[in-house]
Amino acid sequence: MINFSLTEEQLLVQETARNFARTHLLPGVIERDEKSLFPKEQIKLMGEIGFMGMMIPEKWGGAGMDTLSFVLAIEEIAAVELATSTIMSVNNSLACQVLFDWGTDSQKEKYLKPLARGLKLGAYSLSEPQSGSDASNMNTFAEKKGNHFIINGTKNWVTNGINSDIIILFCLTEKGIGSKGISAFIIDKKLEGITTGKKEDKLGIRASDTCELYFENCMVPQENLLGSIGEGFKIAMKTLGGGRIGIASQAVGLSRSALEKATSYSKERKQFGKKISEFGSIQNKLADMATSTDAARLLVWRAAILKDQGLPYNKESSMAKLFSSNTAMSSATECVQIYGGYGYIQEYGVEQLMRDAKITQIYEGTSEIQRLVISREVLK
Ligand code: CAA
Repeated sequence: MINFSLTEEQLLVQETARNFARTHLLPGVIERDEKSLFPKEQIKLMGEIGFMGMMIPEKWGGAGMDTLSFVLAIEEIAAVELATSTIMSVNNSLACQVLFDWGTDSQKEKYLKPLARGLKLGAYSLSEPQSGSDASNMNTFAEKKGNHFIINGTKNWVTNGINSDIIILFCLTEKGIGSKGISAFIIDKKLEGITTGKKEDKLGIRASDTCELYFENCMVPQENLLGSIGEGFKIAMKTLGGGRIGIASQAVGLSRSALEKATSYSKERKQFGKKISEFGSIQNKLADMATSTDAARLLVWRAAILKDQGLPYNKESSMAKLFSSNTAMSSATECVQIYGGYGYIQEYGVEQLMRDAKITQIYEGTSEIQRLVISREVLK
């Protein structure tokens, strides 16, 4: 049976996230974007209300909620500040989730609990300067020496890289055997031999930090291996399948925000003696934005529900991410168009939507990679 009504708990999560975003995020959005300020205090509060480990059982420090609740919360946070929803999404659906799915009990005790409680922040490090979409073509190498691995190499595009405490790192443990030579590690950022690169000066999501990470003879204890040797690529791909649901829901939030802003502006702005919402050309834009935003949300909810039901969702999460990120970009662009010159200046917070939307078509797998994942499943 298909039922579009949310449970009382899900409605409460949605309302809590909406209130939190309006109270704690909205006032500083433009300043954090302009000055690239990390929302440290807000992330701490989100930890306190259970938003940093939403899908992790309470036993391991999380809120024990379903994926649908998570996407509802992400949509609300993203509708106000995409950058904060990125920090939240990476911690929840990459860092916490990978530890829950693949960690041993002692790894969960030591690393998952503080991440899920929001006491620590997690990052996920897969990409390298020469290996983005071609994720398995990495160079960072972990050499086994006694009870340790010695890690050398450079990673990049690490979301939360500067502010994180724990990094889920993917690197080679054997060269020349492709993706089967990749393993996953839990890295405590306090270890010696890790240097954080400069904070990237980004087009959008400027309040979240992104950086390079340099590993130079970094000694990682063997017990920090996540999963088995050679299992890393599978772990990375499976985890990204879930992560993409989070990115898709943040794109829905941004698209909805663009629609809301464009709708209210069009009812105020007058040209040729009437409100611009009375012109067919504006009505058509609003109708398209509303339809695509709802369609994107339905794809996100389908992927989330499949995941909650323990059914395959890899294709569906890629479909949700592909469609939602394209929708976010087109809604943001149309919102700027409806605002005209006012949309092109910073004051109205509309140009930021357009800059922020772009990243959703790039990170956690570009639109081109989502199409690759989808078409491979279609052609199976
Ligand atoms: N689940 C389980 N196993 C999987 C899998 C999945 N979803 N996807 C692939 N695998 C397995 C395959 O079965 C295969 O195993 P076998 O050799 O045993 O058959 C192995 O992994 C290799 O798979 P492929 O041959 O499909 O690998 P490929 O080289 O063709 O790459 C790809 C596939 C889909 C293009 C992949 O490289 C990919 O997703 N690229 C994009 C990477 C990406 O999303 N990066 C974002 C990083 S995170 C980020 O953005 C920053 C941040 O901080 C948020």
